[in-house]
Amino acid sequence: MKLASEMCEALDPGEISVEPMRKRHVTQIMAIEQQSYPRPWTRGVFESEIAQIHPESRWYLVVRHRRRVVAYAGVWITGGSAPSSREAHITNIAVDPVWRRLGFGELLLRHLAEHVISVGCEAWTLEVRASSTGAQAMYAKFGFVPAGVRRNYYENSTDAIVMWCHDIQDPEYAIRISQLGAHP
Ligand SMILES: CC(C)(COP(=O)(O)OP(=O)(O)OC[C@H]1O[C@@H](n2cnc3c(N)ncnc32)[C@H](O)[C@@H]1OP(=O)(O)O)[C@@H](O)C(=O)NCCC(=O)NCCS
Repeated sequence: MKLASEMCEALDPGEISVEPMRKRHVTQIMAIEQQSYPRPWTRGVFESEIAQIHPESRWYLVVRHRRRVVAYAGVWITGGSAPSSREAHITNIAVDPVWRRLGFGELLLRHLAEHVISVGCEAWTLEVRASSTGAQAMYAKFGFVPAGVRRNYYENSTDAIVMWCHDIQDPEYAIRISQLGAHP
């Protein structure tokens, strides 16, 4: 297996695209999902989410290197029709294990941040396994802070940390996001 640093040097930004998730991506997504979570989403869950994609309610993206899906993520946008009451909830984010630590998670979060800001969300939130310290570090870079614990949230045995990031309409937040993710 190549080292992450070797893969990073080999990456041509022109071969990487961020695009809306489509049904045709699901087979490749499932291979990543099954390697990423003890209780992976099913194909049916992804297809249902894709069928409901709408900029103001559900937004899912994939990163592709050449034609291969290497990462994906999505959010639900909730709240009233007035943008000022909207919040976003990250529902899933995963990177192919051999493509981790190359900036793809951050790339996806940056795109999602830009999207949820553009549709008027005031805040965004997520749950993360208490044991997933790497993911928590990634979210902290985007301004998420722990706001509580949901006991036994995963598989009735593993705690979730609830993280929130507020005031994302502030211009300072857009600046913070733009300064992240210099790679890939
Ligand atoms: C969490 C996950 C999406 C991160 O994706 P990634 O592409 O590897 O992350 P990035 O390379 O963009 O890293 C961004 C930042 O996250 C943090 N980070 C990510 N993985 C880390 C790890 N294993 N250890 C420590 N920090 C880590 C670092 O702060 C990193 O910034 P740095 O490179 O400047 O140090 C990926 O590990 C994954 O798919 N995990 C399995 C699924 C999962 O747990 N998803 C989160 C559900 S809440």
